[in-house]
Amino acid sequence: MPEDRFGDAWGKGVVTVLSVFSFRLPRPGGGQVREGAIARMKPSLAPKLEIRQLKKSFGGHVVLDGVDLSLAAGETTVIMGASGSGKSVTAKCVLGLLPIDGGEIFLDGVELSQLGARKRESLLRQFGVLFQRGALFDSLPVWRNVAFGLMEGLGVGRVAAKAVALEKLAQVGLGSDVAELLPSELSGGMQKRVALARAIAAGPAYLVLDEPTEGLDPIMVDVVDDFVVKTVNELKATTLAITNNIACARKIATRVAMLHEGKIIWNGAVGELDRSGNSYVERFIHGHGRLASG
Ligand SMILES: Nc1ncnc2c1ncn2[C@@H]1O[C@H](COP(=O)(O)OP(=O)(O)OP(=O)(O)O)[C@@H](O)[C@H]1O
Ligand SMILES: [Mg+2]
Repeated sequence: MPEDRFGDAWGKGVVTVLSVFSFRLPRPGGGQVREGAIARMKPSLAPKLEIRQLKKSFGGHVVLDGVDLSLAAGETTVIMGASGSGKSVTAKCVLGLLPIDGGEIFLDGVELSQLGARKRESLLRQFGVLFQRGALFDSLPVWRNVAFGLMEGLGVGRVAAKAVALEKLAQVGLGSDVAELLPSELSGGMQKRVALARAIAAGPAYLVLDEPTEGLDPIMVDVVDDFVVKTVNELKATTLAITNNIACARKIATRVAMLHEGKIIWNGAVGELDRSGNSYVERFIHGHGRLASG
């Protein structure tokens, strides 16, 4: 299998920040929104996002060894797993930020590797992303961070983009007073909320939230979780979230998937988490501390 089996657009990083914002684009000067082709399709029981036998290695280091995961429309699946188990790598493979070695990724039943680069990229533009380390631009004020994809990726004018940014900031409980501040002038919890506002700026059909509450105190975890739940519900977005915070998982997840030794070793409704019957899951949720990634 060639290293970049999906061609040039994959793994190049061009689909990073710019292209993750572009679904239901607010039109400059108008309130109209453009619905993507997938949103116009009739609802179906087929998974909205499906990962089959995803494989990814770095050199000889096998990270993903056949990951299977299926997300129904509008549900939030939380991937849990030890540090280094491949949670972020899974998300990056789905987003096309890393070339995959094997397996298939379907969006609304369409297998991405079967598509040309342009079509694939346009499908991937339905994703809003909160990266694990926030990835806010230090030198841009908060509102420009939120509006970045709208302005740079979609050509939305400054005034319209700022209006959307302020609205999204309000949605995550941040007032216009923070809009002109730099990210470094915000607390960690506020930065996470700015990152969430940026992820939802274009009203994406899919969300990828990689550790939305990492490094926050328990009270702020709760606050950010509430905003995650609220925004996901408002968007009705199909969401792949990553967290090792059990309280966070319980709050935001519809389903939980446990990644271990390159595979999903347990996957169930969040209500089943306490009776998984899986010893690794049990160790993980009962004061797991740090578990080896295998
Ligand atoms: N670009 C890369 N090049 C080489 N190795 C990588 C690369 N990205 C990730 N890895 C390796 O893949 C493994 C999984 O990394 P990943 O970031 O997915 O872990 P994670 O489960 O998200 O961990 P954490 O909970 O600490 O965020 C690690 O061993 C990491 O070093
Ligand atoms: Mg990670």
